[in-house]
Amino acid sequence: MASELWTSLSEDGATEPPKIDTSVAHVARVYDYWLGGKDNFAADREAGDVASRAYPHIFSSVRANRAFLRRTVSYLTAEAGIRQFLDVGTGLPSANNTHEVAQATAPESRIVYVDNDPIVLAHARALLSSHPQGVTGYLDADARDPGKILAEAQRLLDFKQPVAVLLIAILQLVGDSDDPYGLVAELMRAVPSGSYLVISHVPSDMQVRAAGIAEAAAVLSTLMTQRVTPRSREQVTRFFDGLEVLEPGLVPVQDWRPASEEEAAAQAGMWGGVGRKP
Ligand SMILES: C[S@@+](CC[C@H](N)C(=O)[O-])C[C@H]1O[C@@H](n2cnc3c(N)ncnc32)[C@H](O)[C@@H]1O
Repeated sequence: MASELWTSLSEDGATEPPKIDTSVAHVARVYDYWLGGKDNFAADREAGDVASRAYPHIFSSVRANRAFLRRTVSYLTAEAGIRQFLDVGTGLPSANNTHEVAQATAPESRIVYVDNDPIVLAHARALLSSHPQGVTGYLDADARDPGKILAEAQRLLDFKQPVAVLLIAILQLVGDSDDPYGLVAELMRAVPSGSYLVISHVPSDMQVRAAGIAEAAAVLSTLMTQRVTPRSREQVTRFFDGLEVLEPGLVPVQDWRPASEEEAAAQAGMWGGVGRKP
């Protein structure tokens, strides 16, 4: 099988050039700006700066979130034996993308990336290429349409074998009216026992500078295409209903099995956790 599959088809099956409005901030590019990337525009940097004035730890938070991604994928590949990943809300390519972390341990790992941003799609095509022994695929799909995601992903992933579903820093972009709990439940119903769910989420109740996080989320919601819905630890815990939450539980991302003292000391405002389907 080919080591890459790109599915960026319009409804009539024709490949379209991406439609990109750079005059309005977009979460993937704002996040890229905070991470120190180059794939962002003036509107994204302006929104990123306004938010960072309300919550100055935003820069270290996004780095701590990426470190959480790296540690969880590394754990799942090296210790839990997972070889299939469904990464919903991929983001712009950065350091330690999911397939790089997984395939460093297990080159045969198969990764399906899902995002609905055309710039992410364009960069993913160019940069997220698989190790020859494994597979990477990219789906231009909306997280709020899990039926489409599952139907397309099964072209590359074997849903009879365990799959790690990654929803890292995306669920706060799905409002309550779009049934975020329903979409997570639908994805996890489709995967077998021994599969995993990884979530990180903007908090509404973290002690450290909670007011600043709320203010940053509110201002971003007025400046970006997407709205931000911070959630409490209890609300984020509900995403893991029916799963066994691994130690140390749902914690600030820097407290999830930090690899160094420096990682543990990061100033960050994100809940993070990993659950296993029994
Ligand atoms: C904050 S970034 C996180 C990127 C990456 N998961 C990480 O943690 O580094 C959120 C990503 O989710 C994508 N996204 C937001 N809403 C989405 C939706 N409804 N469907 C698919 N992707 C979405 C954005 O385009 C962006 O790339």
